[in-house]
Amino acid sequence: MDWIAWDDTLDTGDAGMDAEHKELARFFGRLREAVEGSEGKAACATVLDNIIDHAKAHFELEQRLMTQHAYPKMEQHAAEHAMLIRQVLDCKENFDVDTAASRSALMQFPEVWLTYHILFSDKELAAFIASARGHSAKTQASRASRGDRETP
Ligand SMILES: [Fe+2]
Ligand SMILES: [Fe+2]
Repeated sequence: MDWIAWDDTLDTGDAGMDAEHKELARFFGRLREAVEGSEGKAACATVLDNIIDHAKAHFELEQRLMTQHAYPKMEQHAAEHAMLIRQVLDCKENFDVDTAASRSALMQFPEVWLTYHILFSDKELAAFIASARGHSAKTQASRASRGDRETP
């Protein structure tokens, strides 16, 4: 069962980012199965490791995009990524599958971790990139129509 009900509000409009966010949401669904199925701490830790690996790779993709497009809020966005990784590592360290409080904390986790960051930070980043790409496409089209050559 999906933990995070995916809907259009979570789409950033950037196909690459959206595909990876959906993959992360699937990992969170797998985590829920592990927690609710009482699969034990080791199984949950394995899923959390998968989440951490995937998240790190995803954050690197966003970092490359931010650098490539000189995103003005790059530092703030990167700091959020670092905080999210710290939180998931902390969660993995302290998670105790046998206590209701710990299970409940884990249930809150993806919402804060994934949806808030997507809604408030990734969407802003995706809009900036789309605008930067649009501007670059327009510039190239204008050069082409004038017969300008691409500067090396
Ligand atoms: Fe991000
Ligand atoms: Fe993201």
